[in-house]
Amino acid sequence: MRISDKAVARLAELGAEVRRGVSMADQTSLGIGGTTDEILLARYATIPEVMRLLADEHVGHKFLGGGTNVLIADGELPWVMLHLPKANPGMRVEGGAAYVDASADLGGMVTFCAKRDLGGMEGLIGVPGSVGGALRMNAGAYGTQIGPHVREVELYRAATGEIETLRGSEIRFDYRHTSFAPEDVMLRVKLELPSKPFKEILAGIKVCNEKRRASQPLNQKSAGCIFKNPAGGSAGRMIDELGLKGHRVGDAMVSDRHANFFVNTDNASCSDMLKLIDDVRDRVHKSCGVELENEVILWRN
Ligand code: EPU
Repeated sequence: MRISDKAVARLAELGAEVRRGVSMADQTSLGIGGTTDEILLARYATIPEVMRLLADEHVGHKFLGGGTNVLIADGELPWVMLHLPKANPGMRVEGGAAYVDASADLGGMVTFCAKRDLGGMEGLIGVPGSVGGALRMNAGAYGTQIGPHVREVELYRAATGEIETLRGSEIRFDYRHTSFAPEDVMLRVKLELPSKPFKEILAGIKVCNEKRRASQPLNQKSAGCIFKNPAGGSAGRMIDELGLKGHRVGDAMVSDRHANFFVNTDNASCSDMLKLIDDVRDRVHKSCGVELENEVILWRN
């Protein structure tokens, strides 16, 4: 979608920069996605006004965080993409609390806190993506989830059209799901973390990194796990037991390292990846009677 020159000029006055015709394949860890205009929301305070302007101009929009858990449609996209600036995100520690901008890299935040003797998030070290994305999805790995550490979230709330601060107790954090609305934009978070010596945290981080390296295709283009684990089961093990590692549609392939990771081996389209997802879901359903639910977020046009 293309933004009118008039809207671009008004957005500039609000401190929002427009980039024309950006390929989402370059913005996502899967390396898949069509083209659209992007708006960089450099001034948080003006976000409500930017949203009102987009509504007045009938410009549909979606917000992209780290781009590591999303599968985006091919071709010219019927919405514009919103981003927060990624350079120099705010991060500070005060006592047992960390105050972090949502645009910060999740792993960067874990290490920043570790160096200040705040731990509890070792398991999250290798989860790719932004702090905002981790909040929205309640990211987790190796027995750690971000949700229990959250004390406050500052966000643009689509329901009210304003920037608000929610207390942790007002937010529901479930397995890879939260009570945030899809159009809410995470801005900042306050986390409460247990105090731990840096050396101890580092040892925990090393263990998680090794486990991840041994079981996940880290050097290939993927969006992490494609399906949520069903209650009491493992989607990866079920797909593996059906002999589907290496199964492919075009350049979209079930990883031969971890069967719940679907990788883009070269130039996969969104349509290839969707066909592979549907095919694997059907096969698991037929063989195991379990309907796997997507973990990856789909933006179709
Ligand atoms: N397994 C297989 N074959 C496979 C993959 C896994 O047999 O191809 C078996 C493993 O041997 C193990 C069991 O299945 O016995 C579980 O596998 P793993 O420990 O890799 O964990 P997972 O349940 O597949 C979850 C998260 C990951 C997270 C890891 C580590 C989900 C959907 N996945 O994977 O998160 O990194 O645990 O804590 O909850 C993500 O969210 O994108 C993600 C990758």
